[in-house]
Amino acid sequence: MSYKKKITILGATGSIGKSAADVILSAPERFDVQCVTANTNAELLAAQAVKLKAKRAVIADETKYDLLKSKLDGTGIETAAGAQALEGAASEPADLILAGIVGIAGLKPIMKAIEQGACVAIANKEPLVAAGPLVMAAAKKYGTTLLPVDSEHNAVFQVFDFERPEGIEKITLTASGGPFLNRTSEEMAKATPEQAIAHPNWSMGRKISVDSATMMNKALEIIEAHYLFNIEPNKIDVLIHPQSVIHSMVHYKDGSVLAQMGASDMRTPIAHVLAWPERMETPGQKLDLTQVNKLTFEAPDFKQFPALQRAYKCLERGLYACVALNAANEVAVEAFLTNNIGFLDIMDCIDHILGKTKSAKLDTITDIIEFDENIRAETRDFIANGVTKKAAQAS
Ligand SMILES: NC(=O)c1ccc[n+]([C@@H]2O[C@H](COP(=O)([O-])OP(=O)(O)OC[C@H]3O[C@@H](n4cnc5c(N)ncnc54)[C@H](OP(=O)(O)O)[C@@H]3O)[C@@H](O)[C@H]2O)c1
Repeated sequence: MSYKKKITILGATGSIGKSAADVILSAPERFDVQCVTANTNAELLAAQAVKLKAKRAVIADETKYDLLKSKLDGTGIETAAGAQALEGAASEPADLILAGIVGIAGLKPIMKAIEQGACVAIANKEPLVAAGPLVMAAAKKYGTTLLPVDSEHNAVFQVFDFERPEGIEKITLTASGGPFLNRTSEEMAKATPEQAIAHPNWSMGRKISVDSATMMNKALEIIEAHYLFNIEPNKIDVLIHPQSVIHSMVHYKDGSVLAQMGASDMRTPIAHVLAWPERMETPGQKLDLTQVNKLTFEAPDFKQFPALQRAYKCLERGLYACVALNAANEVAVEAFLTNNIGFLDIMDCIDHILGKTKSAKLDTITDIIEFDENIRAETRDFIANGVTKKAAQAS
């Protein structure tokens, strides 16, 4: 029997985790699942663990441990709970660890996964945004291969000449434009969470769906690309491509432009990283170019989507600004999803925080987490005071 790759899925109950499970279950002869993790969804985690025949299931929220344990009783699947157990799951030997947690919560597990020294497939972009230099330095130190899962970065990875990067002129990240492309600011001001998460092409988790609507997702991706491909910010641009067929491109100095195409289905980049450096069949959709009438491209409207410029500005200011951008965004998006602020208030919160944040030296993961927590507290205060002010005005 040929060797089976040992896989751990961090965030097995999310959109990325479920797509990965689909790919793994379509080729059981290729993979052995070591560990699956989640935050609070014990029932789905238990179901995923059973389906994937995982050896261990870990839930971050300790209050959900009893439920997880009872659901897996008699299956022989080990269980554990808590932050330490989550980091333990990431530290367990595996051939590939898929980082599919959402937000900065994935930072410590990613660092543990990297220290383990195999392959880490990163969907979880926020840790790269907030700690890119440390993540990349750790990968170098431990000889760990980082494989990008984000469809744009996966596309760049597939056509990027890592041996001769001096021949590369720039990269273009494509963006669908999200659900509010060509909407007026009046319409966007009234947008509800349901409208914001209704992405025209992709089915994703709630946070990244809102990020796509504000185009903060593309802003985070600019920062992510800067670190992953060691490329200057002025060599990264963004094109609106509403059909989401070309997932990104690399422009070479001789005028050649290499692009990767595919259906809008995360199972393609996930299959790519799971099988890498080989190729495997995807259980997902395949691109049928006869069904694509046209491919269009346009420059983004920076006025309608100011988030993009913030990415370049934060990269210019330094790591502390990238941490602040990410933290303020995570808090503001959550406040929007829970109906505490409006859609356009997300950007106001971020701008308020970026305006008052002063430079800080962040040398370690502990420094970053501490700084991130302060920014979150400030953003929550701003939201609470803003709401109070609005309520006072209304009375
Ligand atoms: N979805 C996509 O198509 C897509 C595409 C490109 C990149 N990404 C990136 O991939 C990451 C995951 O996105 P998603 O859309 O899959 O998110 P999602 O559907 O919200 O899933 C998030 C996963 O992370 C777990 N989780 C959340 N908070 C956690 C915490 N504090 N500690 C431990 N685990 C936690 C969740 O567990 P529970 O279910 O228990 O809450 C769930 O398994 C994001 O960084 C996103 O930007 C996603």
